[in-house]
Amino acid sequence: MTTPTPRLRTALTDLVGIEHPIVQTGMGWVAGPSLVSATSNAGGLGILASATMTYAELEAAIAKTKAQTDRPFGVNIRADAGDAGERIDLLIREKVAVASFALAPKQDLIAKLKDAGVVVIPSIGAAKHAVKVASWGADAVIVQGGEGGGHTGPVATTLLLPSVLDAVDIPVVAAGGFFDGRGLAAALAYGAAGVAMGTRFLLTQDSSVPDAVKQEYLNRHLQDTVVSLKVDGMPHRVLNTELVQRLEHSGNWRGFTAAVANAAKFKKMTGMKWSALVRDGLAMRKTKDLTWSQVIMAANTPMLLRAGLVEGNTQAGVLAAGQVTGIIDDLPTCKELVERIVDEAEARLDALAALRNSSKVTASE
Ligand SMILES: Cc1cc2nc3c(=O)[nH]c(=O)nc-3n(C[C@H](O)[C@H](O)[C@H](O)COP(=O)(O)O)c2cc1C
Repeated sequence: MTTPTPRLRTALTDLVGIEHPIVQTGMGWVAGPSLVSATSNAGGLGILASATMTYAELEAAIAKTKAQTDRPFGVNIRADAGDAGERIDLLIREKVAVASFALAPKQDLIAKLKDAGVVVIPSIGAAKHAVKVASWGADAVIVQGGEGGGHTGPVATTLLLPSVLDAVDIPVVAAGGFFDGRGLAAALAYGAAGVAMGTRFLLTQDSSVPDAVKQEYLNRHLQDTVVSLKVDGMPHRVLNTELVQRLEHSGNWRGFTAAVANAAKFKKMTGMKWSALVRDGLAMRKTKDLTWSQVIMAANTPMLLRAGLVEGNTQAGVLAAGQVTGIIDDLPTCKELVERIVDEAEARLDALAALRNSSKVTASE
């Protein structure tokens, strides 16, 4: 399948060879082959989430995605994972188009990917991080504002985005709070090369999240998410549920023992050795300045998210969510979603252009 000429051509569509400047981000337990191939077939860029996959699962997920689309797609990687090097080799071998990094990437990994022709697009939450990854050769960045789901920062997209655009010359993709064509038009007006969306793509017919859980998101209002430090020790935007409230009000010791038990479960499920968990933990401590209890809490997060997003247990699981969940009220297919966003963005851009022409006419009259 050849990629049709973009209706909205940006630095992102040119860089990756996609039809529309719309990215579906790599959400743990959510962004698997069906969602990713549906997004890429719709003309956007789908990104597989690999932080919650074993190496073998990632290998199988790449093969399955390739069988379902011949359009470009990406893989999201944790640069601090013990086997990050092997995963990078796999991406290169499989000719995956884009490597996305969840948290701080590493300079040597970026260089290796770029030498092999893989486009590197790290996610960042501050202008200084954008400057750093740009100096290491990143091709573009995704900047996620505080509205966004999952790990998030304190500054809203409306201010973070222009601060990053002013700081770097590489294409910037805006994330955090986007769901429609007005948002895409606004991001392009800021000077961004496109938008990246997590929660909006989770809430499509193509995502594998159980229906009852999707319903839980759809029922929520704009104020129904919270940023909690108790899930894994880092600011994490999630749906405000009874479980999250219990975690918020539990003493550190209770949270810590539950975290150790969950870390043990994650270890069993992924076949990771304690030595690998400890090695990952040491790397995390070094790169993110975490305490040991935060490291254990971080190992805890995948299990809490899995219980909600895969097993559909909204009582026992944590549901990462952007504030945008409060404004979303339907479950389109990825194709319907992408088409309607592009149609609406075009209409907004036309309306803005008309506004300018009419004011010119008035001025000259
Ligand atoms: C359920 C869920 C899981 C996520 N998991 C990851 C992840 O594994 N890696 C990552 O880089 N970002 C992750 N994120 C953040 C998203 O990639 C994205 O940056 C964010 O959802 C954008 O904000 P939005 O939800 O307002 O669209 C996750 C977000 C959600 C909602």
